[in-house]
Amino acid sequence: MADKETAALRDALCGTKFVYIAASFAALGGLLFGYDTGVISGALIFIKREFGLTTVAEEIVVSGVLLGATLGAIVGGKAADLFGRRRVLLVTAAIFGIGALASAMAPSPTVLIVSRVVLGLAIGLASTNVPVYLSEVAPPQARGWVVSLFQLAVTVGIVVAYLTDYAFAGVEGWRWMLGLAVAPALIFGTGMFFLPETPRWLIRGGHHEVAHRVLVRIRDLGDVNVEIEEIKASLAQQTEGGHWTDLLRRQVRPALVVGLGLAVFQQITGINTVIYYAPKILQTAGFNSASGAILATVGVGVVNVGMTIIAMFLVDRAGRRPLLLVGIAGMIITLGVLGLSFRISNPSGQLAWIAVICLMGYVASFAISLGPIFWLLIAEIYPLKIRGLAEGTAATFNWASNLIVSLTFLTLVEKLGASSTFLLYAFASVASWLFAYYFVPETRGRTLEQIEAFWRARHRARNADSGIS
Ligand code: BGC
Repeated sequence: MADKETAALRDALCGTKFVYIAASFAALGGLLFGYDTGVISGALIFIKREFGLTTVAEEIVVSGVLLGATLGAIVGGKAADLFGRRRVLLVTAAIFGIGALASAMAPSPTVLIVSRVVLGLAIGLASTNVPVYLSEVAPPQARGWVVSLFQLAVTVGIVVAYLTDYAFAGVEGWRWMLGLAVAPALIFGTGMFFLPETPRWLIRGGHHEVAHRVLVRIRDLGDVNVEIEEIKASLAQQTEGGHWTDLLRRQVRPALVVGLGLAVFQQITGINTVIYYAPKILQTAGFNSASGAILATVGVGVVNVGMTIIAMFLVDRAGRRPLLLVGIAGMIITLGVLGLSFRISNPSGQLAWIAVICLMGYVASFAISLGPIFWLLIAEIYPLKIRGLAEGTAATFNWASNLIVSLTFLTLVEKLGASSTFLLYAFASVASWLFAYYFVPETRGRTLEQIEAFWRARHRARNADSGIS
């Protein structure tokens, strides 16, 4: 009986099903990313009250996570190439757990800030490793879907954080708000303990037999040799040695530009001003009741989740580029209307409703474009030898841009006014649409090795055009 059950469990965990189970556990890293960045908005008022924080201390508590995430992303990519995706994710889960407990039990503001930076480290590590892990275990025809589970988990994490804040607000339970993240961290760590290393990292390190076993387990195909040969052949053509300097090589440069560009545009188009400050924006637009503003914020979070699910459904069918271009166009329109609406006077409170509709439309547009597709593309466009490193560099730019936007938003609103601030993000969205149109390639349906071959062919064609041999 026990044997039968074990066999049944093994069957259930084989083939495509295994990929989805593996992906769900790995994506918990995204849930913790969303939860730990989102939870502070509701916890802050109580922390401020208990510790008597100054405004500067408050800003440091909020942005400590972003600083930690920038540092985590700097080391996370290189670590993933050196030690493997799975090992780094195991360490990440442990740091998530320790950071959550330490921040929940913090006896002083200093300990709280240090714990938030530690949590940030885990978020940075997760953001460099989870998408790469997912892209390297996913079958090519479902890779968009599988990697976007990460973004879905981020958005679910944000909503869970908003709801937890709401649930514990009555008892001023900020320690519970921060501490509850221990539970998903434990599940994430346990899941990663049982999950295998990715076949691509194994082949890169010469562990061909183990890679073969893993591939047999995660593919429905009896013969996985074709995939193994494709990975080996692609590796053989890569001249990179896995160093930072490789990122500047001519053949890697176009992919690097795509990753870094999208990293910066994902943030400077203003998404986190809404995710972190939605109640404030709504109140500026004339939403008088605080609880109404908070409820509308939960609505924004739910729209974010719902549209991410739609993006997951479309990304392997319509492709990455159409989603990016349509979504960013939506961001331009909604930000533009939001910016202009702050210029009109608000005699009967319609502005508040225009603001809600624009914010929802803006988040919906982000959720089908720059949200999931940035993390997806940076996990699939780089050559295997430097994939972790290059993905980590893009993630670092993303976190650093996030930090800058979050730190400057309130000052911009104060100095320029809400209208000009949102119009500024609308202009950044126009630039990001042009960038996507001219620079971002379509990767739908291709294997990771075919994507590598695409960049190589393009590099050869450019060299031939400019007469370089
Ligand atoms: C971004 C985060 C953002 C989240 C919102 C992610 O793709 O990287 O900065 O908070 O989306 O859904």
